[in-house]
Amino acid sequence: MFGNTKKVAQVIAAGLGTGEDIRLAKVNTITPQDTTALDLLIVGSPTHAWGPTEAIKAFLGSLQPNLLSGVRAAAFDTQYRSRLSGSAAKKIEKALRRQGCSIVAPAIGFFVTGGEGPLAEGELDKATAWAKQILDAWPPRDTEGPGS
Ligand SMILES: Cc1cc2nc3c(=O)[nH]c(=O)nc-3n(C[C@H](O)[C@H](O)[C@H](O)COP(=O)(O)O)c2cc1C
Repeated sequence: MFGNTKKVAQVIAAGLGTGEDIRLAKVNTITPQDTTALDLLIVGSPTHAWGPTEAIKAFLGSLQPNLLSGVRAAAFDTQYRSRLSGSAAKKIEKALRRQGCSIVAPAIGFFVTGGEGPLAEGELDKATAWAKQILDAWPPRDTEGPGS
């Protein structure tokens, strides 16, 4: 809503690499078909009322059962740094698991200092580190690692 989640998404995408095989998209511009033949799907959302936005919920609800079977996936959110924040990411992760995704990094929250942001200090570095954690869970399943 205010650009903070987008900023985190951009940093995660940049941390994963460059090139045409990485696509960063707003949820209302993608269709369930866009999610086929993916190696990795990362879904992020601001936390609204302790969960994902209505748009993210609608997207997750629109996926046919097992459409994402075997796809690597991970979820993040932005939220207040508070015990009462709730976590959109954990709910997204649960939905991705239900779709048959294999979760490659634990759901993570990035903190904002006010409803409209900005992100707290260090959160973008945390996003880069999380992207690295995802890369470290590579190479893709069907590729044999070095020396094997
Ligand atoms: C309608 C609404 C509900 C919100 N509910 C929560 C909440 O339950 N927990 C929380 O930590 N933050 C909540 N927030 C704060 C958002 O998490 C914050 O606005 C968001 O992280 C900023 O990201 P954005 O710039 O991408 O929208 C809420 C914000 C809005 C506008």
